[in-house]
Amino acid sequence: MPSSASACAPAVSIIRAIACGALALLLLATPAWAAGDAARGRAIVTTRQKGLCLLCHSGPFPEERFQGNLAPSLAGAGRRWSAAELRARITDSQGLNPDSIMPSYGVSPALRDVAPAFRGKPILTEAEIEDVVAFLLTLTDAE
Ligand code: HEC
Repeated sequence: MPSSASACAPAVSIIRAIACGALALLLLATPAWAAGDAARGRAIVTTRQKGLCLLCHSGPFPEERFQGNLAPSLAGAGRRWSAAELRARITDSQGLNPDSIMPSYGVSPALRDVAPAFRGKPILTEAEIEDVVAFLLTLTDAE
């Protein structure tokens, strides 16, 4: 008598094939920047503890009372710039413009008097920068 496991085997392999096909389609349809999470990116941009982007920038953040006017508004940044351009700007703003006051968020600084927890570390990790890029790409409306 065939065991119930071997009777189920064809059904299991069909389900596996469907699952693998769906996963492959999902991976193929996913643009490279989708690795970042836009909701996490928004939190990094608006928080004072991490990005502090709103010290200098303003943007479509109605809940934020205090926004900066030292730098262009982030509104429409996703229309003006590609993912690669945004990534380059955030990672190494001073590499693009040595006089920029915008911090190079992805570069490990050689600072002397920085708290031990931050010594030698970039402000944002690569994954956090991807989150910020994913969020900025959603800002396609002019203010
Ligand atoms: C200390 C001020 C300051 C902070 C903080 C800052 N920026 Fe900037 N940013 C600037 C300035 C100034 C520019 C204009 C170009 C330049 O001078 O480098 C700029 C340019 C940009 C641009 C291009 C703007 C455009 O459309 O022309 C983007 C996008 C951007 N910043 C994103 C960010 C993000 C995201 C953060 C936070 C993770 C951030 N910035 C934090 C000052 C700042």
